[in-house]
This record gives sequence, C-alpha cells and structure tokens, in this order.
Amino acid sequence: MLRKLLAAFTIAILFASCKGKSKSTDQNTETKVVKDAHTLSNADSVEVQHLDLNIAVDMDKRQIGGSATWTINNEKAARQLILDTYDLTIDSVSVDGKSTTFSLDKKIDHLGSALHIPIVTASKSVKVCYRTGKDARALQWLSPQQTHDKKHPFLYTQSESIYARSWIPCPDGPGIRFTYAAQVAVPKGLMALMSAMNPQEVSLTGSYYFTMATPIPAYLMALAVGDIAFKSIDDRTGVYAEPGMIEKCRNEFEDVGRMVNTAEQLYGHYQWGRYDVLVLPPGFPIGGMENPRLTFCTPTVIAGDRSLVSLIAHELAHSWSGNLVTNATWDDFWLNEGFTDYFERRIMEQMQGKGYSDMLWELGYQDLVTEVNGLGATSKDTWLKLDLKGRDPDDGLTDIPYEKGSHFLKLIENTVGRDQFDRFLAKYFESHAFKTMTTEAFLTYMDTALLKGDEEMKKTLNINAWVYGPGIPANCPRVDQERFKRVDSERVKFLNGMPAAKLSVIDWTTHEWLQFLRKMPANMPAAEMKKLDDAFMFRTSGNSEIADLWFIMSVRAGYTASYPAMEQFLSSVGRRKFLEPLYGQMMKTSGGAEMARRIYTKYRNNYHPLAQEKLDVMVMGKK
Ligand code: BES
Ligand code: ZN
Repeated sequence: MLRKLLAAFTIAILFASCKGKSKSTDQNTETKVVKDAHTLSNADSVEVQHLDLNIAVDMDKRQIGGSATWTINNEKAARQLILDTYDLTIDSVSVDGKSTTFSLDKKIDHLGSALHIPIVTASKSVKVCYRTGKDARALQWLSPQQTHDKKHPFLYTQSESIYARSWIPCPDGPGIRFTYAAQVAVPKGLMALMSAMNPQEVSLTGSYYFTMATPIPAYLMALAVGDIAFKSIDDRTGVYAEPGMIEKCRNEFEDVGRMVNTAEQLYGHYQWGRYDVLVLPPGFPIGGMENPRLTFCTPTVIAGDRSLVSLIAHELAHSWSGNLVTNATWDDFWLNEGFTDYFERRIMEQMQGKGYSDMLWELGYQDLVTEVNGLGATSKDTWLKLDLKGRDPDDGLTDIPYEKGSHFLKLIENTVGRDQFDRFLAKYFESHAFKTMTTEAFLTYMDTALLKGDEEMKKTLNINAWVYGPGIPANCPRVDQERFKRVDSERVKFLNGMPAAKLSVIDWTTHEWLQFLRKMPANMPAAEMKKLDDAFMFRTSGNSEIADLWFIMSVRAGYTASYPAMEQFLSSVGRRKFLEPLYGQMMKTSGGAEMARRIYTKYRNNYHPLAQEKLDVMVMGKK
C-alpha cells in the first residue's frame, strides 16, 4: 500500500531549476530528471523561489506558530501547489492575499501529510498559517535543567533529512532550493540564530530578522533559541554557545579561521560569507550539522585539547560538498557525505600532517569493515547508490556513504594522481555550485572531465563494483599505519604482561587511544580492564569518543567500576552515535538489559525525539 502511494506521489525534479551558467561539460547534469521518493510536494511543476517565514517561538507551550509565505512561479499552469507537512496544524491558507480552501492528506509513515493548495497560472504568493505539533521530529525543546547553564529553556531544530516539514510547510526534498527571509519572535532575553545572516547580540525586543540570499534546500533550514553568547575567532569566523561554555568553546575552536582558509586553498572560494559554529547543549542527537553559515555541533567535541576538531573540518567541508553541490535524493547521500569525509581528511592533512590524517583514514576503514559486517557483505544497503524508496531515509544513515564513499574517492585520487584530482574537484564544485547532483550525473561528469574515456583507468577503478555493488571492493585503498604500528606494539606489550603504567603513550592523541582500545581482545577480563583503568583513568575521561568506547568495553567485560560514570554519561549526552551502540551492548547481556531499561527510563526525556523513537524499540522493545 505504502509503495503504491509512494509511486503515485513520486515526483520529478528538473535539474535545470536553478539558474546558472550552462557549461558544455554540465549538459548531462542539467537535463536529466530525478525522482525523489521522500517528498510529496510538486516542486517539479511549480517553481518555488522564496520563503518568507514569520513565526513566534513559544518556549512554554513548546510550539512554533506563524506563517510561511511562498513566492512561486506557476508558468507550467499547475492547478495546485503541494507542500510537505508533518504533524502541522494548518489554520488557514491564502493565495495572493485571498483566503482559499486547502486539503491535508492522511499521514503516510515517515513522509507526513501532503498539503494541497489550489492555484492558477498567475498565482505568485501562497501563505500558509500553521502551528507545530507535539511530535515535531525536527524540534528538541529543552528545559533549563537540560542545558549547560541550567537557567533558560532552549530550542533547536535538526531538519536533515526530511524533518523540515515538521516545523515549516515546505517542498522538502534536497533537490529543491529556495532563498528565505525570516522574522522570528522569541521570549525577551533569549537569542535566536538561523542558517542565515545572524545577530551577534541579544535583541532587546526578542524580535529577530534573518535573510539567506543564496538558495538552499529545506534540509538546511535551521533555528536555535536560547541563552547564547558570541565570541569572534577572526573577521569571518566565530563561536556561539551558552555563556558558561563560551570561553572553552572559543579556545577549542581557535583554529577554525585557519581551517576555512585551508579549505579554500584546496577547493576554491568559500561562498557563504561568514562561517560560525554553534555549540549546543548535550542532548544534540548528532555530532555536527552543516547548516549554512552556522554549523550546529555537539558539546562532546569540546575535549579541551582540540583533538576532535576534525568534526568541524567535516561540517565546514559540507559548505562545498552538500551545500554547494547537493545530493539530488537521499539515495545519492554518498555524494554529500563521502565527498565530505574525503575533504575533511584533506583539510586535516594540511593542518596536522599526513601522520594525523592517516589515523583518520584507518579508523574510518575499520568503521567501514564493521558496518559491512553488520549489514552483511551482500546487502544492497552496502552499495554507494542506495535504494530508500518506501523506507525511512534514516535507514541510509550508515557508515557506507561516509566511508565507502570517501575510500572510493581516495582510490580515484591514487589512480589519477592528486594534482589532477584536486583540479577536477575544484572544477566540479565551481561548475555545479547551487545545483543538485545524482550519482549517475556525477559518474558521467567524471568520465568527461577526469577519466576522458581512459579505459585502462576505468578498469583499475572498477566503478560499478563501488557504486552498484555490495561490500568492500578488492581495490579499496589503505593508508600507511605508521603511528598506529607504535600503538599496536604497546598493546601487545600490555597483553604480554607489561604493567600499563610502563607503556610509552606520552604523545598519544585521541586517535591513538581509540586504536589502542579498539583492538583489545573482545573477551578481555574485568581484571585486565581494571589495570588499564587504574593507569589511564578511562572511565573518567573527558573525551567523549574514548569514554563511549570504554563504557562499551566495560559492559562487555562486566567491569562494573565504570557503571556510575557510564550512567552519568548517559544522563546527559544525546549523541546517537554514542547512545545507540552503548545501549546496544547493554542489551546483549542479561543484567545489562535490565540496567539499560532502568537508565533509559530515567533519562529518556533528555534525548532527541528521533533518538527516543529508535531506543524505544531497541531498549524497551516497542513495536
Ligand atoms: N549531515 C550530517 C548529519 C546528518 C546526516 C544528520 C543525515 C541527519 C541525517 C553531518 O555532516 C555529519 O555527517 N555528522 C557526523 C559527524 C562527522 C564528523 C562524520 C555526526 O554527526 O556524527
Ligand atoms: Zn556530514
């Protein structure tokens, strides 16, 4: 049934919808039609150009209400405009100032309800007055207690992949772009920020005005409201965070200004004006989100020693791969994330040296192996080109697009040579800026602009095995293991009985510690865990990556001394990458499952709605 409905609604989006100079090499990418199974909107027939958002944020009622006014061009004489919505209450609709009838379809799983609005060829402006629902999947409302400073409530959105529709009635597909202006009213004393031109000071009236003059897709719509302060890094970069965190965050991100310069040297001009980072309260469900002009990030990257800033390199890199050249559908997600992982490691290589980026590559390779083992080496979910039709796009959120994608690009780099590949990438970003890209269009473009019909090279690459084949292809590149070899030999010494305190670990960074712990035997007894803990104090590590891994190992080994610290960690941290594997490990042991249910029940409210949805099933066995 669902499939049938989806087929009926599946729409076609014209690549040519974005204005831009057409170059001869772009021809293939500008004429193809793509289907996006995850939007119900008809932005293929009605051109949606601009959004005027006028909303008030009620922090007590936990509701956003107001209007979304869409400037449209209906040259093709469509008889209706269809917008995506999810749990929105639609109060009224008007077209060119005249009130009109509308209809809201029954909700389809994951996709929400299509909003149908009658229009005529001359229609120019469609205004929808609406309110958000209790189940808005993009919104996380925090009580003061759930913030760092514990004084004021906080709200943030997470729109990727298809959640923008739960706070704005919109054409919610990555292939549909629009500019926006927003007027946002919040309680006096609080700051509001968006993926747009942002204030640096709190408004006395609680009223904020935003503009984003560059067309973006709906998944990059973002809003945060709370007690937020600003500190500048250099003249185009800065940090926002709660006042009690701002100094620490500013210090952690000292290198972000240089990072933007480095990225520009690699792949061309940064096209978004300012680049700021907003550090959110601990419940933020992901590591980082590349909202244009304002990356949202988890406070778990604030390690105190700048050792996790590659996450910022990643979100910054999306300013090219993703925000400039955007995956046309969620099936092409590797075009966003694989390119970004590759770009992130190039930035880190430039800034920290090859030994450092090689560690990132190797840990990424290990994640790829684990993911392929988990999904099954023949699973179609291990193809780069995904098939998410009729499914939740969240299903595609695995390490495959990230790690198989970035390793594929690394293979291409190795095969054609770095200089050639860099020139190609810079040209790719430049010539497809503000456009969407399918996997097929990318492969065609690569063939014309890079491989130029070189059959031998194509044979070496074995492109089909990567893109339309499962598992890890035999020609998957591996990097030098120089720094990790030293780590491995220290681990062997420990396993052979050398006291932990005698190991030489003096200059290790987070990544070396991760390698040290990841490769410990799976059946390590609790007594051995204790020896490591006594020497290195893992359980009280302020480094979230290390702490999370340590807790997973502790549960596996039944090393109970870690449990109070683990509960403390689970009480506040909402990052799904940490929560889900840790709860998953607990669920595998009988006493652990009970502990998981107890801890989860206690802290469920601190987690994001999407994390709750997943953990309700995983931990509480909800169907
Ligand atoms: N765009 C993603 C986050 C995302 C993807 C959210 C799909 C929702 C749906 C972001 O750029 C990302 O990849 N974040 C990673 C960090 C990164 C260093 C791999 C994360 O959150 O862990
Ligand atoms: Zn990403």
